[in-house]
Amino acid sequence: MIAIACDHGGYQLKQEIKAHLEKRGLAFQDFGCDSEAAVDYPIYARKVADAVLRGECERGILICGTGIGISIAANRIKGIRAALCTDCFMAEATRQHNDANILALGGRVVGPGLALKIVDTFLDTPFSGQERHQRRIELIEGE
Ligand code: RB5
Repeated sequence: MIAIACDHGGYQLKQEIKAHLEKRGLAFQDFGCDSEAAVDYPIYARKVADAVLRGECERGILICGTGIGISIAANRIKGIRAALCTDCFMAEATRQHNDANILALGGRVVGPGLALKIVDTFLDTPFSGQERHQRRIELIEGE
């Protein structure tokens, strides 16, 4: 299960991503928002982060205008490693190296074609499991 949410700046891209996930047969839960009316992105970051931390969803996708505010908000929550990606190299590397559990995107930054490829790369790339990367994640998490 994938948790997905956005603010008004990410609403259009979220619609594209949801249609893409449906086409791929991937289950998702949409935590809002539901229109392009202005909302506060930290609220939506928390909803997706909580679903991931509760274990209801394996991964999350968060979208705001730039992807910056919503990723900052998500990364304040312990256990969340949200990666703002603008290309597929970043999406692949953050899964392999950081075991990122949330992908952040900027709806005003990346077009839908690139965004969908970033989503696929993020969802399809496993964590490398390499000791040095695991050690660094544990240092981030204070373990
Ligand atoms: C909303 O206008 C915009 O500030 C928000 O979507 C995001 O880009 C914040 O980082």
